[in-house]
Amino acid sequence: MASVLGADYSILGEEVAELERAGVDRIQWDIMDGRFVPNLTFGADVVAACRPRATVPFEAHLMVENPDPWLEPFAEAGCEAVLVHQEACRHLHRTLTRTRSLGIRSGVALNPATPLESVRHVLDQVDVLLVMTVNPGFGGQLYLQTMEAKITEARQLIAESGLQVTIEVDGGISPATARRAREAGAEWLVAGSAILAHPEGKKAAVTELRRSLTTGSA
Ligand code: DX5
Repeated sequence: MASVLGADYSILGEEVAELERAGVDRIQWDIMDGRFVPNLTFGADVVAACRPRATVPFEAHLMVENPDPWLEPFAEAGCEAVLVHQEACRHLHRTLTRTRSLGIRSGVALNPATPLESVRHVLDQVDVLLVMTVNPGFGGQLYLQTMEAKITEARQLIAESGLQVTIEVDGGISPATARRAREAGAEWLVAGSAILAHPEGKKAAVTELRRSLTTGSA
């Protein structure tokens, strides 16, 4: 899955179309409010404007304080999953059930310092569990290898629960880290700069990432 955080915003629709042609299976929109994280990015209208330019699923990663008012706008904009941060929700169970009531997948993201235990009691309301391997707010950061223990812990917790929860990992994913994250338990991987800043372009980057999952780092 590609994050468009590092895309050329002057041609965002074309970038989204090119990412699909490059072979990504999903596109993640990093939504930042300048309060939960020290950065500001897109609104739902931008996502809606780009929706017609690709057929792959969109998801919104809401790095925003109090995300409840934004669930419906991003669902309406064409996201089939909306992920909120555990740290930003006063009533996380309600937020997750409200997301599902919109007919889309619910997701919760955990910052590096946030323990997995904080979502144990709402896991039945979670479709996607996002384990951050960077501190949110910016692309191009170093992958936090110490988060692999949390990814594996999440895999064990989900297995014990018998629930269907997809583990997603986001932050510093590259040919040097993708396989490690996958072996720790990640099912969906989000890559931003490894794709959008690749010197040989998006298609070469996606090919290199996929190859690294089978053969180790490229
Ligand atoms: C951080 C963002 C990034 C982005 C991917 O807030 O969530 O993790 O999706 O950026 P890279 O792949 O460049 O770390």
